[in-house]
Amino acid sequence: SLRVGILTSGGDCQALNATMRGLAKTLYAQVKDVEIIGFKNGYKGLMYEDYIKMSPRDFSGIINQGGTILGSSRCPFKKMQVIEDGFDKVKAMKKTYAKLNLDALAVLGGNGSLKSANLLAQQGLNVIGLPKTIDNDTYGTDYTFGFQSAIDVATRYLDDIHSTAQSHSRIFVVEVMGHKVGHITLAAGLATGCEIILLPEIPYDINVIAKKIKERNKKGKKFTIIAAAEGAISKEDATLSKKKYKAKVAARGGHSVVEEIARDLQAIMPEAEIRTSVIGHAQRGGEPDAYDRMISTRFGIEGARLIMNRSFGQLVVLKQGEVGSIPLQDTAGKLKYVDPEGKTVKNARLMGVSFGDR
Ligand code: F6P
Repeated sequence: SLRVGILTSGGDCQALNATMRGLAKTLYAQVKDVEIIGFKNGYKGLMYEDYIKMSPRDFSGIINQGGTILGSSRCPFKKMQVIEDGFDKVKAMKKTYAKLNLDALAVLGGNGSLKSANLLAQQGLNVIGLPKTIDNDTYGTDYTFGFQSAIDVATRYLDDIHSTAQSHSRIFVVEVMGHKVGHITLAAGLATGCEIILLPEIPYDINVIAKKIKERNKKGKKFTIIAAAEGAISKEDATLSKKKYKAKVAARGGHSVVEEIARDLQAIMPEAEIRTSVIGHAQRGGEPDAYDRMISTRFGIEGARLIMNRSFGQLVVLKQGEVGSIPLQDTAGKLKYVDPEGKTVKNARLMGVSFGDR
């Protein structure tokens, strides 16, 4: 017999349900007497004993459902002991785990949640992780589920902007999600033929962007779409300390980088009609696409296999097309960035894509 806890933590994304389904169906199929406990709203459910006893039916018909049937929340606990109002969070989680007599805990989470999962593993809990985030920034895996569906949403959005930008001969600066990395922006930018793609990993110079737009105009292309990652940063700002940069963003009213790019561009090109547009949380919402459903199912099965083999403290990963796992410890606290010297960026430059840097 086996008692397995499961939770979804951090910002949600597509294919959380498909992943849980893959894991649960495998356990139900392979283990005679299995009980799955679903914790509500991420680690909070584990802390405050808020859970439901799941049955096989709960995992039926959810492979294409967005969001998470368990709910999620951001609930960081970076240290071993996080005491709030006399409440020791980690102790509380360990207590729930012991009380429910769990054999294992599956955490579906992004970087923050996986760091927490690693802490719990160090505390002796039998934890496995599954890499969830649209940002695809989890270190040690080629892929995190949600990424491809987010690219699809961003791609459709940029396509839609294309026609209106063209009709009005306008410049659009479009904000794409991705937190501190540019994976979604790079992929959706290439997929929509954007000639200017701005990534956090490659600080931009506004004059270089203006020059590229003018070149396009000379060639008869009177409109431009700039795909800008929410974490895009100017060369000047990239030299600032974290603290100084934060203060600068606060001073500009906290508004996003696309507003800043539009304003600085307008100063150089006073005649241009410039608009900004933010794609936002639709990138995390809605149905997972076919690729995410397929990968998530494979991830879920691998997660179940790790639990059955009692290989704990591991994160399910995709490496060169095959599922596998790495120690949670190897990924905790690290991010996977776009490689500015990598072939995707270098080859994009060959066809004339500008990253705003030179
Ligand atoms: O990590 C996923 C993500 O959507 C990022 O792309 C974005 O920076 C962030 O979460 C937004 O977070 P929130 O859920 O707090 O709005």
